[in-house]
Amino acid sequence: MISREFWRGKRVFLTGHTGFKGSWLSLWLTSLGAQVSGYALAPPTNPSLFELARVDGLVDHHVGDIRDLPFLQAVLRQANPDIVIHLAAQPLVRLSYAQPVDTYAINVMGTVNLLEAVRNCGGIRAVICVTSDKCYENREWDWGYRENDSMGGSDPYSGSKGCAELVTASYRASFFPSDRHAEHGVAVASARAGNVIGGGDWAADRLVPDLMRALIARQRPLLRNPHSVRPWQHVLDPLAGYLILAQHLFPEGGGAFAEGWNFGPSEDDAWPVNRLTDRLCALWGGDCSWDASGSPQLREAGTLRLDCAKARHRLGWGPTWRLSDALAEVVAFNKALLDEADMREVAFKHIALFESGQTCAEEVLSLA
Ligand SMILES: NC(=O)c1ccc[n+]([C@@H]2O[C@H](COP(=O)([O-])OP(=O)(O)OC[C@H]3O[C@@H](n4cnc5c(N)ncnc54)[C@H](O)[C@@H]3O)[C@@H](O)[C@H]2O)c1
Repeated sequence: MISREFWRGKRVFLTGHTGFKGSWLSLWLTSLGAQVSGYALAPPTNPSLFELARVDGLVDHHVGDIRDLPFLQAVLRQANPDIVIHLAAQPLVRLSYAQPVDTYAINVMGTVNLLEAVRNCGGIRAVICVTSDKCYENREWDWGYRENDSMGGSDPYSGSKGCAELVTASYRASFFPSDRHAEHGVAVASARAGNVIGGGDWAADRLVPDLMRALIARQRPLLRNPHSVRPWQHVLDPLAGYLILAQHLFPEGGGAFAEGWNFGPSEDDAWPVNRLTDRLCALWGGDCSWDASGSPQLREAGTLRLDCAKARHRLGWGPTWRLSDALAEVVAFNKALLDEADMREVAFKHIALFESGQTCAEEVLSLA
């Protein structure tokens, strides 16, 4: 359960606040009454949720490179946060094949720099390093991966996220050991989530943004792997997991939660690409069909699912929105954008619906 009382007045340092997840999290944290300082490069897409929702007007916004340790350290010191959430990354698998060195530098050394800056800055109580479900060694198992399974990653992005997990574990063991939490007071955890969707994502080579671009342009979507099953979930679901995890890390005894955590969708809510596309088309309305294209794929690991029993039992976290609810939010967001609505208000409204366990389904019907 997210506690408004907990977040009111908390100082939160967020890296990657100009990105898709970071913009949603900035909006959510400010709506909870937290004071957010952000550190990131310029928004990675145009348009972006960051600009549409005018997130820079809500947070203390800093443009900086995560590879620049002295500047990162200076900004972190000035922000003097209670809680740090590290989202900044090169997050795209396909781009990681074209830019492996940058991907490792940003994702691995970026995590080293963040933790080093934390080490040199007093007063921080909780740190969450966000990696990915792709951090696990993918053994093509049918069952979900648990937090104590091996790290791995065969493409540069996945490998970099496996490395970021090892960096986090090693900094924790060396400088913030859980069994001496009472002495140093810093609880360092990592969070592993899978493919997220939601309004405000315009990243290249992600299925739902590609589909929305095609639908808005009245083009037939091209599907590369119509029968692949991927465990998508709405972006607010793992973000809720990060917020609840921080609430557990912050107090005395938070060291007991300083470890890796999975946040993924329910096992029975994984859909193949063609079903997701059909549902999105139906929600969008109008005449819509898709083509299966024969374009060759770069090697991407097979389906990997997360076992989230630990987060369910120990944090009381579970998914709020089913995939069909997530798709309704995407459609409601994009219709509102086409109607030139105030996208900050739209995002706040969708967050409020999520928090109260409602969906955007009625909004979509009213827009049909
Ligand atoms: N979107 C997903 O489906 C998904 C799935 C699993 C994990 N993740 C992880 O969640 C995090 C956020 O992903 P996202 O989808 O919001 O990505 P995004 O591309 O929308 O945002 C990335 C953010 O990182 C910042 N950034 C990139 N390089 C930087 C650098 N050198 N220095 C400082 N900032 C830099 C960008 O400016 C941006 O703010 C990433 O760590 C990503 O690996 C995302």
